[in-house]
This record gives sequence, C-alpha cells and structure tokens, in this order.
Amino acid sequence: MSQESIAAGAIAGSIRSEAGRGQWSSRWVFFLAATGSAVGLGNIWKFPYITGQNGGGAFVLVYLACILAIGIPLLMAEVMIGRRGRANPEGAIAAVAREAGASRHWRRIGSLAVLTGFLVLSYYAVIAGWTVAYTPAALSGSFVGLNAESSGALFNTLLADPWRLTAYGSFVLLLTLGIVAFGVRDGLERSLRFMMPGLFLILLVLVGYAATTGHFMQAVEFLFAPDFSKLTGKGVLIALGHAFFTLSLASGAMMAYGSYLPAGTSIVRTSLMVAATDTTVALLAGLAIFPLVFANGMEPGSGPGLVFVTLPIAFGQMPLGALFGGLFFVMLALAALTSTISLSEPTIAWLGERFGMGRVKAVLLSGAAVWLLSLGSVLSFNHWSEVTLFGKTFFDGLDFLTSNLMMPLGGLFTVLFTGWVMKRAIAAQALGLDQSGAFGLWWLAIRWITPLAIALMFLHSLGLF
Ligand code: PHE
Repeated sequence: MSQESIAAGAIAGSIRSEAGRGQWSSRWVFFLAATGSAVGLGNIWKFPYITGQNGGGAFVLVYLACILAIGIPLLMAEVMIGRRGRANPEGAIAAVAREAGASRHWRRIGSLAVLTGFLVLSYYAVIAGWTVAYTPAALSGSFVGLNAESSGALFNTLLADPWRLTAYGSFVLLLTLGIVAFGVRDGLERSLRFMMPGLFLILLVLVGYAATTGHFMQAVEFLFAPDFSKLTGKGVLIALGHAFFTLSLASGAMMAYGSYLPAGTSIVRTSLMVAATDTTVALLAGLAIFPLVFANGMEPGSGPGLVFVTLPIAFGQMPLGALFGGLFFVMLALAALTSTISLSEPTIAWLGERFGMGRVKAVLLSGAAVWLLSLGSVLSFNHWSEVTLFGKTFFDGLDFLTSNLMMPLGGLFTVLFTGWVMKRAIAAQALGLDQSGAFGLWWLAIRWITPLAIALMFLHSLGLF
C-alpha cells in the first residue's frame, strides 16, 4: 500500500483504498447483516439452555453486564478496525498496526479470530441442521399431543441418527457456501428483510402463549431474580463467553462485515442498535421457553435439547400450532443461516486476500474442511458420545474451547490492541467521533474497563481468587 493511498483513505475513515472490494449498499444493509450475524441460535437455542444450566437470574445479570460493559465497546472496536483496515481480520489488524507503527505480529489476533469463526461454524451448522429437521415435523402436525417425555424421545431419535444429522448439517453448509460464493450482499439483504420482523413476531406470539400456561411469573422470577448462590466461577466464564458469542465477537465476523462498511456510517449508533436487538431477542426467547419448561415439569438444566424439546410441546397444543411451528423453525433456520454466512466470510476473505485464491476456490476449500470437522460434532451425539476430551464430548469441548477460551482471549487482545496500540486521535477518527463526550466514555471502556473485566473474570473462573 502506498503512502498516498493511506493519506487519501484516512480522510474517509479508512486507510486503504476501497477499490476492488465489495461494500454494503447502505447503512441499513450493514445493520441488517450485522443483526443477522448476531441474532441466531445463540439467542434462541443457546441462551435459554445455558441460563437453565447455570441457575437463572444471577447468570442473566452477569451476561447483561458483559454485553454492556464489554460486548458493546468491543463490537464498536471490531467494526472500526475492519473498516479502517479494509481487509479480512488478519489483514485489517496488520494494516492498523502498521499505521500505528506497531509490530506486525498483532495480526495474529486476526488469525486467531478467523480460526475461531471456522471452528464455531463446524458445530453451529450441525445445530442449525436440527432446526431444518424440525420444520417438516412441525408442518406435518407431528407435534400434536406431545408431552415432555414423547418430545424428548422425538429429539433423541434425531440425535441418535448420524446420517440424518449429517444430511441436515451438510444442507446448511451447502446453502451457506452457495450464498457466500455468489456474493454476500444480495441474498442476505433479501432474506433479512422479511426474516427479522417475522422472527420477532413469532417470538411475541410464543411469549403470549407461554403467558397462558400459568407459569409465566415463575419464569420471570427464574430469569430476573438473581440468586448468587447458584452462580459458579465457571458460570461467570460461560456468561462472558456467551456475550462474545451472541454478538459474533472475536470470531472475525464483525470485523469482516465492518470491512465492507461505507465510510461515514455511524459505527456507534449501529452497534448499539445491533446489541439492543440481539439482547431483546434472547430475553424474549427465555420468556417463551421457561414458562413451558416449568408448566411441563421439565428440568431447566437439561442441556442443548431444551428448546427442541419444550417448544414442540407448545406448538402441539396451541391453535394453528402446525403453522406457527413450521414458521418458527423456518425463521430460526434462516436466522442461523445469516449467522453461518457471517461465520464463513472471515475464512473465505482470508484465503482470498492472503493467498490470492479465487472466491469460489476459497469457498470450496474451506467448505470441505469445515464439513469434515462438522462430522466430529455429529458423531459426538451418538457413536462418539463416550469419547471425551477434557471431560467433554467433541461438541461440548469445541463449544467450550471457542466460546469460553478463544473468544474471551481474542477479545482481550483486541481491546488491548485498540486501547493501547492505536493512537487516540486515529481511533476517534476511525470511529467517526470527535475526541470528547461519547468517545471519552468508549475510550475509557476500551483501555481500562474491558481488559480488566475480561482478565478478572477469566482468573476468577480458573479459581485463582
Ligand atoms: N452470534 C451468533 C448467534 O448468536 C453466532 C455467531 C458467533 C455468529 C460468532 C458469528 C460469529 O447465533
């Protein structure tokens, strides 16, 4: 990159020329894409089940605090670095480091993020496959008359069948890579326009239905009345990790999407909107699911199957349940798809820009690798259920490694890089703010609050204090 292009681009909030790289057509499309990345299985599948496993209210409180104090400032930093560097996560950090006169080794944060996204995609696609499997089941009325036991049995039959899991997971991967191969923008924009409002609406219907079960207040109490005696050090780490996971942080996704962001878009405002939407969807999911859990005498801590076992019972009982159920699982599959797309983009952009690989070739190569890895998660639910790594199955282990170790560590280094390597004036310019007011608050968060909070929570979870 020449000095001229640095100078010219710097005025527009970026240090690279934008020629040859795609860009979102508007601020609105970026908001949709970032929200599409953030809202997904994390909100509707993962948040309820880990909340159930970690005792409810106190866990939710720590999670919300992590979103506010760590997630939102980091989201802004990632989008900003992406736009400033106009490259895949590794290349973007390298460019920003170069601008700051810092070591090029900082780019390893970006490599770690790309790897994290790749690993997450491998198991995320398998869970998204469950959603695809449940759509025809809902539409054909198979949920009618289900109770806790028969619904659990239905779910376990799916898990026990590696062929079906592979087929559905592969379908999700094929769809993802197909869309990504032909360009992210058009397909994404079109599907997001109806999907987001639709998902929201169905969630509201479900919350309404859950309110009629008579166990709504019990659920509200479970979710919002903190009982700190139920919170463990590991629970704190899981809450922290989930804040990263649900906002698609430290996995390259937001940085890659930021790299396509037109200059002049407000990163601060868009990030706040993305985080607010994401949190609302998670809380609505909790309010829809927990009343059903209690009404049917189920165990909140029963694990990854929670949503797939509880909601079908509700769809089987409510009026127009087949229709609502079918729509719900279609929307959830689409919400997952907009997340898998964002999970695959960093690797593909990295292969393309780092090795000069054509887009289709990069898609095929990364697709084959991620598909192979996904088989490990598939098998962990059946043939390999006894095979454990660090006391966890392949799926659980990969989830723990990525969400609870790689993401917090990657996030920690990203905020250290932003707050202590980037110059204050450059950061303000890249974010599109002047150096007073809101910027001061964000800068304080990035330099002190986020790194200290992540480090402390990490050490706490290791039992070090
Ligand atoms: N945020 C997505 C969800 O909550 C998952 C995701 C993680 C997407 C990391 C991209 C990157 O479902």
